[in-house]
Amino acid sequence: MDYYCMLKKQLFLFVVVVFICPTASLFASIAETSHNLSATGSGTRVTDPSVTTCSLCHVPHGGQALDGKPLWAKAEPAAPVTYRLYGSGSTLSGTLINRPGASSLSCLSCHDGTIGLSATIKNGVTTTAAMTTTLPGGLSPTGAFQPTNVDPSTGYSPYIGTNLTNAHPIGFPFPAGGYGGGGGVPGISLTIVNGGTPDAHLHGGTDTKYPLFQSGGADIFECPTCHDPHLTPVAGQTKFLRARNALICQDCHNVK
Ligand code: HEC
Ligand code: HEC
Ligand code: HEC
Ligand code: HEC
Repeated sequence: MDYYCMLKKQLFLFVVVVFICPTASLFASIAETSHNLSATGSGTRVTDPSVTTCSLCHVPHGGQALDGKPLWAKAEPAAPVTYRLYGSGSTLSGTLINRPGASSLSCLSCHDGTIGLSATIKNGVTTTAAMTTTLPGGLSPTGAFQPTNVDPSTGYSPYIGTNLTNAHPIGFPFPAGGYGGGGGVPGISLTIVNGGTPDAHLHGGTDTKYPLFQSGGADIFECPTCHDPHLTPVAGQTKFLRARNALICQDCHNVK
């Protein structure tokens, strides 16, 4: 096959992938995000060119298939991590905050700074790849985010840490009956759509779907409720947020 023919074939495949498989095109664009940790990424990334775009998070064989962690590759710390919980364990309206669930732990396994970003697990074996970063402060000796990773001009930091007391509550069940028409203390007048199923979600005013994750028969609010780790940033909608930065809070807190 000559080069032109190969190129045509690749172009054809590209057209099929981008225009016929909308889901695939969504993921193809992860390459343009800061979650492209392969050697082609622009920020924090591995140096080994054989590491694929998806493989620090997903593995096709030998991974962990847990709810909220599809075909999961990322290794978690060997010893259980203790998180300090929002509101010492409850919100203003008395909702009990639990230890982060599987979906949040998938994010925290990179963002809490306790374990290397490139530590992956396959068939029970943990391996790590060498990494480089443009972040101030650099990565820790084990390749983890550090508290010093703060952009001095914007305050941006990918280090969330283990102290979650200063972050939006996660790891709690969204009340089955909602907070009532007046929205109760959090000012939220929404009820769960398709509760108790893998499609459980909140439907925000901007028509955005905020997934809730099943655990112990309840629909749990976790990090990926607000963030989709694959989303390409566009003007006004960055940081993997499911809705525009300016609108996301009122999308749920709709009577505040
Ligand atoms: C930085 C980590 C990360 C990377 C890189 C990543 N994913 Fe994901 N992916 C996740 C997490 C976390 C979830 C589960 C949370 C969710 O459903 O949004 C997920 C869910 C999924 C799902 C199932 C849920 C859905 O939204 O349909 C698919 C399919 C998927 N990823 C494919 C991919 C592919 C293909 C790539 C590479 C092009 C990729 N992911 C790269 C973290 C990642
Ligand atoms: C494999 C490690 C890994 C996992 C797993 C991971 N992240 Fe990240 N995340 C990163 C890296 C690396 C960056 C970019 C750091 C930098 O600025 O160089 C990042 C950046 C981000 C940012 C900032 C994006 C921006 O545009 O400024 C957000 C938000 C984020 N991650 C949320 C999440 C959430 C939510 C999850 C779970 C659904 C998650 N991440 C899972 C490694 C990971
Ligand atoms: C209620 C929605 C919501 C939840 C839940 C949530 N986030 Fe965020 N997150 C945001 C918003 C909004 C921003 C953008 C803040 C900004 O631009 O200052 C953000 C920003 C970030 C950033 C970038 C930090 C920065 O300095 O800009 C990271 C990393 C991140 N989130 C990770 C997480 C992780 C990990 C979890 C779970 C422990 C989580 N988020 C849960 C809404 C949420
Ligand atoms: C996907 C829905 C959703 C989004 C988006 C969202 N929240 Fe929330 N928020 C909640 C829920 C649910 C609670 C917990 C209410 C409870 O049960 O007590 C909450 C709680 C809070 C609380 C009160 C915590 C307490 O102690 O009661 C504040 C303040 C808050 N959110 C602010 C924000 C801000 C600011 C944003 C935007 C960055 C935001 N929320 C985005 C759903 C959301």
